[in-house]
Amino acid sequence: MKSFLQVFGHEPQIVADAPGRVNLLGEHTDYNDGFVLPTAIGQRTRVALATTTGERFTLLSTRIGHPVSFTLDDPPAEHHASYVFGCLKLLQARGVRVPALNLHVSSDVPMGVGLSSSAALEVAFLRALRALLSLDLDDVAIARLGQRAEIEFAGVNCGIMDQMAASLADEGSMLFLDTRTLERRLLPFPPNAELLVVDSGVPRSLAESGYNRRRAECEEACRLLGVAALRDVTDPAALDGLPEPLQRRARHVVSENARVLEAAQQVDPGRFGMLMDESHASLRDDYEVSVPELDRLVAALQGHGAVYGARLTGAGFGGACVALCHRGQAAVAGREVVDGCRRSGVAAAILVPAAAASSDGPAHG
Ligand code: GLA
Repeated sequence: MKSFLQVFGHEPQIVADAPGRVNLLGEHTDYNDGFVLPTAIGQRTRVALATTTGERFTLLSTRIGHPVSFTLDDPPAEHHASYVFGCLKLLQARGVRVPALNLHVSSDVPMGVGLSSSAALEVAFLRALRALLSLDLDDVAIARLGQRAEIEFAGVNCGIMDQMAASLADEGSMLFLDTRTLERRLLPFPPNAELLVVDSGVPRSLAESGYNRRRAECEEACRLLGVAALRDVTDPAALDGLPEPLQRRARHVVSENARVLEAAQQVDPGRFGMLMDESHASLRDDYEVSVPELDRLVAALQGHGAVYGARLTGAGFGGACVALCHRGQAAVAGREVVDGCRRSGVAAAILVPAAAASSDGPAHG
């Protein structure tokens, strides 16, 4: 793609970026006020911008391929640009006078696989605006704004995990986050282990995939239980009176929170891997957000000798799986599993480790 200079004829004033994330444990817990354990990945989204005259914003993104033009009163038609538009509208509503901008977005965060490409874009863009306009926004405020942009302008009733991870996580540690209080700690990875992330090749779309339906089911379960959030339930026996499927949905959330809390006690990699395996079974059987291709990929990963444990990651309904591997063996294990998938006609691909991903054919997104 052309550079900012090639497109706009001058250099950008500000360049900022933010990473994608992979969630190790704590799936579908964040909108239940629960606990999550993501980490940042090496792939990042970069936003370059400069002010311009008039009222029109011009956005060129690797994801769209052609320039998109909009004003604050005339939203862009492209879904991808709605994250940018949403951030601008929310700042405007806070009284910030945002000048017209030329924007250039490039990213190697894979899209639509559960690695939060949209949060990376929101956080990178808000970081760039913070620098340009000297905004009084800390990293948590940026995460909150990004989440609202996603809910109000992209139609996904998401929790706060992805934006908190893009804003506050790093690649070297796990971000243990209480999504109710936003208290957080950076924790070391289990010893002698490293991450492997594999795309199943099955695309998913959050808004169309039942994500919002799952969230509504959890809210209904809370109403019936008389609690503010499923986070407030710790004894699975308290769920016994709930009708199905609400009982299973709630059971996933309660058991998943317990898994994150245990993992945050810095368990050994064998135990961490078992918690990941249990998380996948719960997402498959109780929360019903897996698909057969993900189950097969997870089973193949779990069956590999260098893997401690594996699960789907992100919202589910397709997308990527994460595995915890013996240190130094993730690339080889990923290669073997991906080759096996491809022999049976499934277009799986390694996404992390990044070095193994880049030698694994064309990148996504
Ligand atoms: C998506 C949402 C997050 C979270 C996960 C599932 O990534 O954006 O807020 O709910 O799904 O854990």
